[in-house]
Amino acid sequence: MTDAEDIEAAIHACVRDFYDKARADPLLGPIFAAEITDWDTHLRVIDDFWSNVVLKTTRYAGQPYVLHVPLPIAHEHIERWLELFEESARKALAPAQAETVLARARTMGDSFKAGLFPFKDKDGKPSRHPV
Ligand code: HEM
Repeated sequence: MTDAEDIEAAIHACVRDFYDKARADPLLGPIFAAEITDWDTHLRVIDDFWSNVVLKTTRYAGQPYVLHVPLPIAHEHIERWLELFEESARKALAPAQAETVLARARTMGDSFKAGLFPFKDKDGKPSRHPV
């Protein structure tokens, strides 16, 4: 196996580990169950996304932010997503690649939050709607 093949295999394992947990998660699971009909395709797209992040494979050419706008995502969904993804990345990937994917995931989490929750609710929590 080349280094790149090892890394692709580790990304594959990371993505499966993440989705096993995310689909069983009380907060995230119902959203994925409602939205994803073709799991083989979704997992392949997600593999391609992360392999582009780590290996610049250029197989992914989508726009993740736009796809998340219509989803019923609250602030805590993003926190939970990042928590589960960090566990899977640290378990499946070598430390250098784990740091690379986690840095990108956090940046995306920050931009999702900034874009999706521009308001604060009456308790000062980020919100999709003005008070
Ligand atoms: C920082 C956190 C997140 C990252 C990095 C991320 C990343 C991605 C990526 C790369 C895609 C593939 C887009 C494509 O098909 O081109 C995707 C799709 C999707 N994500 Fe996320 N995601 C995040 C948070 C979430 C959360 C919190 C949820 C809620 C359960 C979620 C649910 C989905 C769904 C349902 C799709 C499929 C959308 C569609 O095909 O219409 N994601 N995500």
